[in-house]
Amino acid sequence: MMRCISCGKEYDDDEIVYTCECGSILEVEVEPKDIPRETFDCRRDNIWKYKEYLPVNYENRVSLDEGGTPFCKCDKIGDELGIDLYVKVEGSNPTGSFKDRGMSVGTTKAVDLGVGMVGCASTGNTSASLSAYAARAGLKCAVVLPSGKVALGKLAQAMFHGAKVFSIDGNFDDALKTITELALEGELYLLNSINPFRLEGQKTIGYEIVHDLKWQSPDRIILPVGNAGNISAIWKGITEFRDAGYIKDTPKMTGIQAENSAPIANAVREGRDTVTPVENPDTIATAIRIGAPVSSVKAMRAIKESDGTAETVSDDEILSAQMYLARTEGIGVEPASAASIAGVKKLVENGEIEKGERVVCVVTGHVLKDPNVAIDACEEPTAVSSDPADIRNILKTI
Ligand code: F0G
Repeated sequence: MMRCISCGKEYDDDEIVYTCECGSILEVEVEPKDIPRETFDCRRDNIWKYKEYLPVNYENRVSLDEGGTPFCKCDKIGDELGIDLYVKVEGSNPTGSFKDRGMSVGTTKAVDLGVGMVGCASTGNTSASLSAYAARAGLKCAVVLPSGKVALGKLAQAMFHGAKVFSIDGNFDDALKTITELALEGELYLLNSINPFRLEGQKTIGYEIVHDLKWQSPDRIILPVGNAGNISAIWKGITEFRDAGYIKDTPKMTGIQAENSAPIANAVREGRDTVTPVENPDTIATAIRIGAPVSSVKAMRAIKESDGTAETVSDDEILSAQMYLARTEGIGVEPASAASIAGVKKLVENGEIEKGERVVCVVTGHVLKDPNVAIDACEEPTAVSSDPADIRNILKTI
């Protein structure tokens, strides 16, 4: 069953509906299950090991073995900041971002419903992921992208997996309006995160973090926020496992946004409950270049209920955090993902994070998603002859 998060109206799981009559957004209701947590340990390490909590038909599942991503303790950065730091590496998913968790469940729902075409608007990763999962499921796929603002790797993926790719003269918020209209006309099944079934896949990040920590909650989970689906989904996962009795405590949900694309962080800073859209969002972290987050009500609820917060970081802070993580811990992430690392640094510096806190940063997408940013940040390769002496001389200087 789906329920409106504002007025509580209920909708049947088989209905194709994205928003409530009252205009607010929906959530899938999942009851606690009578399953001992040890059951999950003896299953293959992907999102489907939590199948009882994924409200779609398991027999129809569309899967590329998503989930079960690396959970790396990062002592070098952690020691420097005086915290206990873990990084959840979502770039290790099949198409290189956390979206695969949501698309696995979302396309399974599409198969359950018997639709023929799926679609989304995207800043890049959602389209890359949907395009692959639609191919796997044998569904037609249409994606709408903001022209010139999608990182190269993501665009290549969407095109190569065979989606019909449309490019519009507008930003992500405009693209979402366009594809939503087509979905409401019944042209396609919408798999943006306004679709609550997609978030059911993404909530498994929350499940895995507490499972990775041997059924303990971290003090805090930090992640980049764009359309605000992921922060809402992770919080849903955490509260479901708390209600099932698998964990006792819960983490402070902490969202990081880019300075000029920060409607949620602005609302938190100003103590407002309602989120005012940002007109012309801009940031080098194109994945989170979003001014009107669809899941802002859910995200504000997650932040408030968990006693969390939201913060902004500048593009320069994002780029230096991206390189710092790559060169200190060997973890290569795209700019948006590095916002969580830039954020943890800022929150330690301004005293919001206490010394000794156990913090999990979710890094959401792989460095290869945005090769241009990575290459622009580095020196050109040094041209040498094939004589080893040339190289030997230079190696003495590094
Ligand atoms: N990090 C990356 C790498 C993303 O691609 C996104 C969103 C986010 C963080 C933010 O997650 O929207 O749930 O708050 N990308 C979407 C897309 C919008 O179209 O690929 P969110």
